[in-house]
Amino acid sequence: MQESTLIICYIIASVTFILGLKLLSHPATARRGNLIAAAGMILAVAATIFLYKDENGNALHNYSWIFSGIAIGGIIGILVALKVKMTAMPELVSFFNGMGGACAALISIVEYNHLVHHAADGTLPGGELLIILLGLIIGTVSFTGSMIAWGKLNGSIKNFDFKGQHILNLLLMLIIICTAGWLIYHSGLSGSENANHSLLPFYIILVLSVVYGVFFVLPIGGADMPVVISLLNSFTGIAAACGGFLYDNKAMLTGGILVGAAGTLLTILMCKAMNRSLLNVLIGSFGGDVHSQTSDQQHGTYKEISVSDAAMVMNYSKKIFIVPGYGLAVAQAQHVCHELEKLLTERGVDLKYAIHPVAGRMPGHMNVLLAEANVNYELLVEMEQANQEFADTDVVLVLGANDVVNPAANTDPASPIYGMPVLNVELAKTVIVNKRSMKPGYAGIENTLFFQPKTSMLFGDAKKVLQDLIAEIKSL
Ligand code: TAP
Repeated sequence: MQESTLIICYIIASVTFILGLKLLSHPATARRGNLIAAAGMILAVAATIFLYKDENGNALHNYSWIFSGIAIGGIIGILVALKVKMTAMPELVSFFNGMGGACAALISIVEYNHLVHHAADGTLPGGELLIILLGLIIGTVSFTGSMIAWGKLNGSIKNFDFKGQHILNLLLMLIIICTAGWLIYHSGLSGSENANHSLLPFYIILVLSVVYGVFFVLPIGGADMPVVISLLNSFTGIAAACGGFLYDNKAMLTGGILVGAAGTLLTILMCKAMNRSLLNVLIGSFGGDVHSQTSDQQHGTYKEISVSDAAMVMNYSKKIFIVPGYGLAVAQAQHVCHELEKLLTERGVDLKYAIHPVAGRMPGHMNVLLAEANVNYELLVEMEQANQEFADTDVVLVLGANDVVNPAANTDPASPIYGMPVLNVELAKTVIVNKRSMKPGYAGIENTLFFQPKTSMLFGDAKKVLQDLIAEIKSL
């Protein structure tokens, strides 16, 4: 009876994960989706704690350990999540992901020791051992890789690579696979050796996986981290699914598979939206270190516009598109941006936001940013639709976006972003670009949009410029 109740709880939890994931796909329902999936997870954890019984019918007893762990982890998690800035979201995701990987690896370590100590005649079941080793390798790589990604994003770890690093990585991976294969073969030989002898190769695999995770992520360009984090996310999902297999735990299995599949799909989608292959992300070092993009090269002449002129043009426009980008997130100007939008809308302007799928530094970055400022979802227009509407738009206001509005992606086959779908803002009657300087964006390349006759540059921090624009428009 207790066992069937537990299974029903796991099935309900699995359904909430699927439902939650579905709801997460739209900004209007994302919050609800998150809550539903979290409720399912609480149910699965509570059911395991109170209903689980091992093969001998023993229930869990070490409640003080379990609840101390939950309390410490829960409090730290809540505090960190409450304090985190929106721009630091990718590094927080990376940190949490690393914790997931570490848990999966710890499960493998515990279960391997359990297996070895209970081996009847020195033999270990090959299938179980395979799952344990997969969980160990994938979970450990995900843990150390995510920790390096976290350090790179917060600037505490710099890019590091040396000649032949990719070959060393391949070699490491080969040694890990061979050692794991040897361990599985050797452990299956009945009574030939004391099972304790298998501990050494197991820990060699653990250490090599730690090193592999570090070397795998260290050389990758800091700005490519969101793609790598998504890939590592899928690793953690697979490692957790291994735990689900081991414990025959349906909720863990479904959760792990969903995370693994979603992470893989997200990685593919991000690469596609940037027109880059995953291999190029992993070994291309494109975009370099986010902290070292200081190139100030520029070609051609550009014209500037004053805040009062920009306010005038926008105030008397019929239709305006705002294109938000990474700079808007850096300036934390989403609330002021929403204020400007409300002001212009009140004055009869048809104002909408054109959202590029990889604007910012994480999937859905602009949607989340604008949702934080309570911008109506109906005003967010996807790239394909916006590109059809630019031709009859009076003004496009580009706020801290750069690569996603670079026409070179359409016109210059030599450009590293050639082929990446972009917002064709140059089709509008007037383009006003707000950024602080002529420095390039993530891709480190010049933007020909800035030198076109229709374009005017409005220099300054996005928040300050928007505040000034609002003040000017109010005075008109
Ligand atoms: P970027 O091309 O990175 O350009 C952002 C611009 O914002 C910079 O040129 C910068 O110019 C400006 N800026 C920075 N701080 C500012 C501030 N306080 N006020 C005003 N402007 C400011 O951004 P984007 O157009 O959003 O494109 C995103 C890029 O990231 C794409 O190349 C994309 O492929 C890449 N990427 C995206 C993702 C995802 S999933 N979104 C993941 C990995 C990589 P100044 O320094 O002159 O101000």
